[in-house]
Amino acid sequence: MKLTLKVWRQQEAGASGRFATYDVDGVTPDMSFLETLDLLNENLLARGEAPVAFESDCREGICGSCGFLINGVAHGGRPGTTVCQLSMRFFEDGDVLTLEPWRARAFQVIRDLIVERSAFDRIVQAGGFISVPVGSARDGNAILVQKESADTAFDAAACIGCGACVAACPNASAMLFTAAKLMHLNTLPQGQPQHHLRTLDMIAAMQNEHFGSCTNHGECEAVCPKGIPMEFIGSMNHDLITAMFRRRRERPPAPDVGKQPYHEIEETGSRSRNK
Ligand code: SF4
Ligand code: FES
Repeated sequence: MKLTLKVWRQQEAGASGRFATYDVDGVTPDMSFLETLDLLNENLLARGEAPVAFESDCREGICGSCGFLINGVAHGGRPGTTVCQLSMRFFEDGDVLTLEPWRARAFQVIRDLIVERSAFDRIVQAGGFISVPVGSARDGNAILVQKESADTAFDAAACIGCGACVAACPNASAMLFTAAKLMHLNTLPQGQPQHHLRTLDMIAAMQNEHFGSCTNHGECEAVCPKGIPMEFIGSMNHDLITAMFRRRRERPPAPDVGKQPYHEIEETGSRSRNK
């Protein structure tokens, strides 16, 4: 197959960019989309030109590194498929494809198809953890988990942090991502001690990163390669209202896992003086 790729080229963050048009010959139906970009880059390097910068790692839909818009649709629009999993058999000889990076204020373009997604990291850092007593690993069945809770947590944990939901949303909202990270821990027994603080802290972190708010367009769910459902956003909003009511009570001291387990702080209401 021979394809024509119109690729966004941008030297660095803050620089002006433009679309460059390249013909790529020798694409086969069993290649992935990233392998097509590899082929393009081999051609560019052979001609002494700079290769197209794009992110990838696992190339099997797990890590969330890859992702850009193909003809305006995040990950190319195949259900449950990241661009690294996107097979060229879905394209036809002579197709003209436009490739551009995620477009969102919180995701600055670093170079070509690569954007800065550390805003997601800061949201996870705000509450994507549980405080538990350290020690040897517990037996897998020591903490009983309801089947429904385990299934919901597992579905939420499937989020790979690719950013497609932000790119597809007209408001550049990160609520589907944040909701998935919250639902992952908030539905498990291990996540209950920090349920409300986690909700408040992660939503505050999201709002600090210049993402927009959800207005129920549903574009995020439509492009999410991991099928994260919008109902998680509803659950997050429910948790937020509950947490804000509980906030009227005095906020407990911040947990210091190294010195005193969080559950002890909750039981006593204050830090022990002898620790
Ligand atoms: S919710 Fe879906 S689209 Fe958004 S970051 Fe997670 S996997 Fe990607
Ligand atoms: S390269 Fe890891 S999800 Fe695409």
